[in-house]
Amino acid sequence: MFHIAIDGPAGSGKSTVAKEISKRLGILYLDSGALYRMIAYYFQGNGVDLADVLYIQSHLDEISIVYADGHYILNGEVISAQIRKPQSGASASAVSRIGQVREKVNSVIRSISEKCSMVVDGRDIGTVVLKDARYKFFLTASPQERAERRYRELIAKNEDVSFEDVLNEINQRDRADSSRSIAPLKPAPDAVIIDTTGMEIERVCDIIAGYVDSRDIRG
Ligand code: C5P
Repeated sequence: MFHIAIDGPAGSGKSTVAKEISKRLGILYLDSGALYRMIAYYFQGNGVDLADVLYIQSHLDEISIVYADGHYILNGEVISAQIRKPQSGASASAVSRIGQVREKVNSVIRSISEKCSMVVDGRDIGTVVLKDARYKFFLTASPQERAERRYRELIAKNEDVSFEDVLNEINQRDRADSSRSIAPLKPAPDAVIIDTTGMEIERVCDIIAGYVDSRDIRG
């Protein structure tokens, strides 16, 4: 059993790459950002101000998160498009600053990781959550390119957004994620750093796959 941690800022391509790598290797893919997005979605759906840290801390027990057969399930409800709105990332970033929220997400990830090999993408997978992951990567790209990728994704989903708004949101979120006191966004000392600016996804996957030992590749 082995784990691959792929961390990086918003729009660095990590989720597309992590999904593709999981397919190539025939192992599970877990999107840790989705877990933060689900927690934010739950509280916002109940009209809670995400700045109300005390309330969120004391109501986390109401939330059950299950990841099964590729589905993210929140208190019995399958969650997908609900957490992919343009503002969902910023909401996730707000709740992700709370230590108890991080512990909850980390325990979901760790309990799955005990059962199977997997690729997990996020911000702190290689530095905190799966420190012993066999493979660690940190993807970056220029803010302009990351915003362009995110903008194209949102436009493809018919979201009404402007490029400037997407660029601002990405810059703000990266600042918040990198400067928070708990588990800030940063590469693990033993991570391979890949700048994906101007690179095709296939090329990034080839580079990552090149690091994976042939014994970990299913024939
Ligand atoms: O990766 P994604 O954009 O879905 O993540 C949404 C937000 O969740 C991030 O901006 C970050 O604040 C938070 N997050 C985190 N740690 C992770 C994954 C996501 O703090 N491992």
